Amino acid sequence: MDNKLPAMAGGKPIRGEYLAFGRPVICEDEINEVIDALKSGWLSTGPKTELFERRFAQYIGSQFACALNSCTAGLHLSLIVTGIGEGDEVVTTPMTFCATINVIVHLRARPVFVDIRRDDYNLDPSRIEEKITSKTKAILPVHLYGYPCQMDEILRIARENNLVVISDCAHALEAEHQEKKVGALGDLATFSFYATKNVTTGEGGMVTGSDLSFEERLRVLRLHGLSVDAWKRYSQEGTGGYDIEVPGYKYNMSDIQAALGLRQLEKVEEYLKIREQYWQMYNQAFSEIEEIITPSEPNNGRHAHHLYPVLIKSECLKINRNDFKEALHQENIGTGVHFQPVHLLSYYQKTFGFKRGDFLNAEYVGDRTLSLPLSPGLTPDDIVDTIEAVKRIASYYRR
Ligand SMILES: Cc1ncc(COP(=O)(O)O)c(C=O)c1O
Repeated sequence: MDNKLPAMAGGKPIRGEYLAFGRPVICEDEINEVIDALKSGWLSTGPKTELFERRFAQYIGSQFACALNSCTAGLHLSLIVTGIGEGDEVVTTPMTFCATINVIVHLRARPVFVDIRRDDYNLDPSRIEEKITSKTKAILPVHLYGYPCQMDEILRIARENNLVVISDCAHALEAEHQEKKVGALGDLATFSFYATKNVTTGEGGMVTGSDLSFEERLRVLRLHGLSVDAWKRYSQEGTGGYDIEVPGYKYNMSDIQAALGLRQLEKVEEYLKIREQYWQMYNQAFSEIEEIITPSEPNNGRHAHHLYPVLIKSECLKINRNDFKEALHQENIGTGVHFQPVHLLSYYQKTFGFKRGDFLNAEYVGDRTLSLPLSPGLTPDDIVDTIEAVKRIASYYRR
């Protein structure tokens, strides 16, 4: 890219103040709920976590919800409680955050990638069956950007091949497939409350499901493997005694995090509406720009509209996606790349022999995807600035 960017060419950037990507919205009621947790004298997993779990399960329509300190922890424990271990194969998508795949490797199991579809960017169910072997134990769909996967197809394949389904719903809290929350489908589903997510607890996660024997094991494993949690040991209910039947992990959520989550969850639908409005503004503005491919919408479900990913058609421009991102940065607009396909990351290439060319659709999207600002904390003017900047860069670098 030459260094004469549109911002410089025009004398000054489109925005005066930098537009940070994914800044969370924290209001007085959330701050007060956290203060309440701090003043209560109980900071770790306790009554606020329990209440958050109950309300979360209600929202999703699942039998239970188990709160953790991250979605990564949720994926790890979900694989453990469904019996995934050394030598097992987990069928999943390369177009995800590394966390989805790292936990498979932690258990000495093997990630088996299925390429994505070019319309919804999710793993292609029609290509799953050819990857199933005697070692396959699970399918791990990721509802990328909030677009629900074709769960009816995935569940049918799982049923016919005796596989478990663990859904990565990090982006898909509000997403539905055929009028059911995706978090209520399959065996287990995991959620993220990382700072940029639709509901945040700063850091945090949740696992939902319907089989109560999974719930029991999740609760034990999230806290060292203790037979009785701290709330029961130290409160008036407890005797102080405990046992360890299995060495567990330190993956529990604190009541400080749950306090934030409780108040955030109350606003989940209101915030979704705002993101939907901005999503439509972007779609409309970019519909006639040939260099930009806009994201699609499901026709048999609900998109969670977590991220707004455009594909930058570098073949129509003098610059590539990374240059486009840098040009937006110079216009004072922060963006994100979600994600670099996992099979192109060096550990995965070295360990499993993956190479460029293995998953062409994931590579096409991974090379071009760019997430524009989409948060309920933004104003319509922020979206207009972003649109203007994208248009200015696209026309400046048009071939
Ligand atoms: C698709 C996906 N899965 C899993 C994770 C991990 O979430 P956490 O940071 O809560 O562990 C992320 C985080 O951004 C993600 O985007």
